[in-house]
Amino acid sequence: MNITVVGAGYVGLTTALGYANLKHKVFCYDNDLEKIKLLKKGKLPFFEKGLQELLPLNLNKNFVATDTLIDSLDKSSMIFICVGTPSLNNGKIDLEYIFQSCKEIGMNLKSCKDYKTIVIKSTVIPKTTEELIIPIIEKYSSKKIQIDFDVKVIPEFFQEGNALHNFFNPDRIIIGQINSSNNLLIDELYSSFTCPVLKVSLATAEMIKYSSNAFLSCKISFINEIGNICKLLGLDVYEVANGMGYDPRIGPYFLNAGPGFGGSCFTKDLQALIKKAESLDYTPLLLQSILEVNNNQPLKVINLIKKKFNKIDSLKIGVLGLSFKEGTDDVRESPAIYIIKELINLNLIIHAYDPMALPNMKKKFPNIKYFENPQELINNSDVILIVTAWPQFKNLNYIGKYVIDTRKVIDNKKGVDYEGLCW
Ligand code: UGA
Repeated sequence: MNITVVGAGYVGLTTALGYANLKHKVFCYDNDLEKIKLLKKGKLPFFEKGLQELLPLNLNKNFVATDTLIDSLDKSSMIFICVGTPSLNNGKIDLEYIFQSCKEIGMNLKSCKDYKTIVIKSTVIPKTTEELIIPIIEKYSSKKIQIDFDVKVIPEFFQEGNALHNFFNPDRIIIGQINSSNNLLIDELYSSFTCPVLKVSLATAEMIKYSSNAFLSCKISFINEIGNICKLLGLDVYEVANGMGYDPRIGPYFLNAGPGFGGSCFTKDLQALIKKAESLDYTPLLLQSILEVNNNQPLKVINLIKKKFNKIDSLKIGVLGLSFKEGTDDVRESPAIYIIKELINLNLIIHAYDPMALPNMKKKFPNIKYFENPQELINNSDVILIVTAWPQFKNLNYIGKYVIDTRKVIDNKKGVDYEGLCW
């Protein structure tokens, strides 16, 4: 099958290289010329495990990077929209990239003869596809939905750092579609996947994506709240979570207490869902609390520092781990950002290290001191904050240092003045 993927971000490139590897012919389009230039040279614009290896294997064979849409659209029967939907200041999602790509696809569709299936992979609030996306494509193409083209919502559930594995091993495939939709192409595309495939309405598919992310972030804020209570009681929340997780109704996953969730999705999606609920005159108290608990969580480390030292103003604080989780160079909404901002407010000397995210964090905080070696950071700091669970932080020498471990990374605490965040 010939496929065009619009948007060369995490979701777009994983989808494009995944299908290319399954022997489909994929055109990957982005209007960011720098990204396309890099891809044409066989280089990824960001790190994601496994993608770099797939790129040269498929480049100019099953995978073509392009900055023009017309040729690839004409040749493709399926078009995947994978552009970002970032947050606006008011919490709603910014649909600018969606509108722009629908407009471009619509204008190019005008001259295409064959029937096309357009798949929305971008996360959009329920009813967006029905009320905004389809009308825009119809307007700019002068074509009719289900006569000349079809639109489906197939949300993505990739985790950064594990996206390619998630692509090849999905838990489920959710296909949102108009009732009378034709399934031939989609069924063919997913024929090699063995997981359950659920066919639902467009808006139900959109809501499944939001509800899944809301539930996952709820589990994290829940265990962080229990963890904060455990800390006051002198208990270890990891032991508590372990004891809870054997109940199949609860399950053992996503119950790791820590400095709060980060990343480009959970906060953005919660905010957008809250805004949508409010626009319907409903106050989503639980969703609001998930965010509130999460906003307070990174600052718990600051309270611990203040509790430990009478005078904090001359302390050198070493932050180990800057990415929002291990296995990625992504720092978007990383708890480390909120911790560093507060340390700057307190006028403390900040040292920082991350195995992958230094370049991205340097753009946000150019004036703090970065180390290329984590042991050197430890040796030169009074307080060590472990903020990301990089496995290489386990075996460093922390002897004699005050260490606040927010991710339960260190096992060997001999000689270490060790403090757990929720244990
Ligand atoms: C999340 C979802 O897990 C994906 O299913 C979804 O497709 C994606 O958002 C998206 O909407 O695009 P991601 O943001 O890549 O994926 O990362 P997660 O692994 O979910 O981690 C998010 C944050 O929660 C990280 O900061 C992580 O450290 C934190 N976390 C996770 C915890 O603090 N405790 C846990 O038990 C699990």
